[in-house]
Amino acid sequence: MKHITVLASGWGSNLEAILEAEERGDIAGKVVLVISDRSDAQALKRAEKRKIKNLFLDPKKYARREDYDRALVDLIKAAGTDLVVLAGFMRLLSPLFVCAFPMKIMNIHPSLLPAFPGNNGVEQAFAYGVKVTGCTVHFVDEALDNGPVILQEAVPVIQRETIKTMHQRIHAAEHRLYPIAIDLFCREKLKVEGRRCYVIE
Ligand code: GRF
Repeated sequence: MKHITVLASGWGSNLEAILEAEERGDIAGKVVLVISDRSDAQALKRAEKRKIKNLFLDPKKYARREDYDRALVDLIKAAGTDLVVLAGFMRLLSPLFVCAFPMKIMNIHPSLLPAFPGNNGVEQAFAYGVKVTGCTVHFVDEALDNGPVILQEAVPVIQRETIKTMHQRIHAAEHRLYPIAIDLFCREKLKVEGRRCYVIE
């Protein structure tokens, strides 16, 4: 049974979807720790409700990003973590952090990468007027929204819809996709070769 640490800054609907999938037995792993860089993150409350260890690690207490990331690495390792899951974690992670968990950090991004990377992917896609958008689960490397793609789900854009409804449907796709990718990792079904991530039959 793999141990998972989730990092989240905000609402935590992806965390919720992961925890619900775990409860249904759809993930061959368990979330052992949730860490946030914001004290008011709803994600912490969601973990607390289920009696999952959760903590707020205050960035203001660390002079440099590397110091913060080193503290994060120590906490994550102490929890016996096999997989780090970023679920709306709004901090850029330093190479120090990424190198501590090679191909063991996953992120979900609300567009079909490599289109529209960065922290306003939904807005960028909407403004561009694309007909298809979606979400991407990928491994994290040192560059932003760049690591090998694990899974993607396409979301068609409906004519004249608002960014709100488009965003809602992307979120719903994320909630389906992230637990599947995490389960594949936990069952050791993912194999990375260069940029390519294969799902082993
Ligand atoms: C998601 O849209 C994800 O793609 C992005 O951050 C958002 C987090 O949403 N990385 P939530 O906090 O899980 O609701």
